Amino acid sequence: MAENGTTENGQPLKKMPPLPHPIKNLEVKYTKIFINNEWHESMSGKKFATYNPATEEKICDVEEGGKADIDKAVRVAGAAFQRGSPWRQMDASGRGKLIQKLADLLERDRVTIATLETMDTGKPFLQAFFIDMEGCIRTLRYYAGWADKIQGKTIPVDDSVLCFTKHEPMGVCGSIIPWNFPLMMLVWKIAPALCCGNTVVLKPAEQTPLTALYIGALIKEAGFPPGVVNIIPGYGPTAGAAIARHMDIDKVAFTGSTEVGKLIKEASSKSNLKRVTLELGGKNPFIVFADADMDLAVELAHQGAFFNQGQCCTAASRIFVEESIYDEFVKRSVDIAKKRVIGDPFDFKTEHGPQIDQKQFNKIMELIESGKKEGAKLECGGSALKDRGLFIHPTVMSEVTDNMRIAKEEIFGPVQLIMKFKNQEEVIRRANNTEYGLTAAVFTKSLDRALALSSALQSGTVWVNCYNALHAQAPFGGFKMSGHGRELGEYALAEYTEVKTVTINISPKKH
Ligand code: NAI
Ligand code: MG
Repeated sequence: MAENGTTENGQPLKKMPPLPHPIKNLEVKYTKIFINNEWHESMSGKKFATYNPATEEKICDVEEGGKADIDKAVRVAGAAFQRGSPWRQMDASGRGKLIQKLADLLERDRVTIATLETMDTGKPFLQAFFIDMEGCIRTLRYYAGWADKIQGKTIPVDDSVLCFTKHEPMGVCGSIIPWNFPLMMLVWKIAPALCCGNTVVLKPAEQTPLTALYIGALIKEAGFPPGVVNIIPGYGPTAGAAIARHMDIDKVAFTGSTEVGKLIKEASSKSNLKRVTLELGGKNPFIVFADADMDLAVELAHQGAFFNQGQCCTAASRIFVEESIYDEFVKRSVDIAKKRVIGDPFDFKTEHGPQIDQKQFNKIMELIESGKKEGAKLECGGSALKDRGLFIHPTVMSEVTDNMRIAKEEIFGPVQLIMKFKNQEEVIRRANNTEYGLTAAVFTKSLDRALALSSALQSGTVWVNCYNALHAQAPFGGFKMSGHGRELGEYALAEYTEVKTVTINISPKKH
């Protein structure tokens, strides 16, 4: 590089944007319950602590919402949804403008919010800034665009009548979200709900309430009318369950474990049959044929297994590799797993942070032990970092077989399992032999094979020669026990609207 701002052959240097710097000693401003655009203390007087998983130190106490706080939030969300309310009278395009404004505020405060997300989750700051925040902003802008494009049909029915449909908002939408992508899951829920004209009562995960509360402040600043979005931090069996069984909540969207997903449906059926969408776990097959681009497949299998410390519903958690390239694939996977940089999530070099909490840490370590006992070969990792509570070395296990617990259960940790297969029919059968059906991936240069597998695999998403390719425009959700309904894209609109059929007698003979 020449010194005067040009490259050696005289081309002007492309300016790289400077890397964002996290805010040191960020003060947490919002720790109360956000209802009706105001900050409330909990009705019970209780608070709970939220911790930084990288240091295991307490960040602050947060007001603990329970049933009484959920009741209060549902009342104001119901009032905000009443006929004639400012929200209901607003032009559909006005809702779009507010959502755009919210996206602008996320852009403005991007460094602060990413810093807060890293403090509360332990995910590397650059990932929070470039992946989570970018996903949130794009998703908000995408749904802002939909607000005035949600429309019904005019239907040529029999008889002399005019028949048309309207896609109306459902009402008060409950959202219960997890800790692995606290911001992104919040946006995946509120963006479609709001563009369709609903109001929202959202409970963040108890491990990660802070960014949701910060978004509460931005909701108010953006100018959403009071009561349209309410955010109640609290625990699952109390605040979460109160949402699931509330008689005045019209719909609930949940992301989390299959176990709790079942409870949500049960609560719906035992209360008011509220609509339910569920985004649950996965045990996602990642299939590599011998003709695949090996470098690409090894790299994406690594990212698929270890991104976000393996705490992803989309984690590449069953990697099937064709026999002839198996040994080479395992060797290369181990080489890069050993190089993955573990450390302080605020350090720019860090690729790998801590697990979210002790419960998840224990579950992962127990599953690794079970894998060893059942005969899998531990290639690397398998242990925690000495002197640092919740960090687990990236772990690769080979010689994994389908009946082992690690091959069946969601680990939700940094564990890459590599299995061997002989032919296409066999791998399709084995890939589908799971109660889950969230995502699947195929690596091959054969178009015919890619098409055959994308038909045969029973999952809501199939990625061919790519991974974690999530887009605001494309639907995401599961087959089988991975869930119910779809988030993102135009498809999500159907989960936040009711179809109303209006039939008008226009026959002069009948008057
Ligand atoms: P979880 O399903 O208990 O938590 C998710 C959310 O549900 C949280 O907001 C929690 O407070 C709430 N919740 C818990 N019990 C509830 C109840 N009875 N009624 C209403 N809401 C309730 O998941 P957890 O315990 O954090 O993780 C357990 C496992 O679940 C993980 O190891 C992983 O396998 C899976 N998981 C899957 C996620 C995904 O993205 N699909 C996200 C988080 C966890
Ligand atoms: Mg925390």
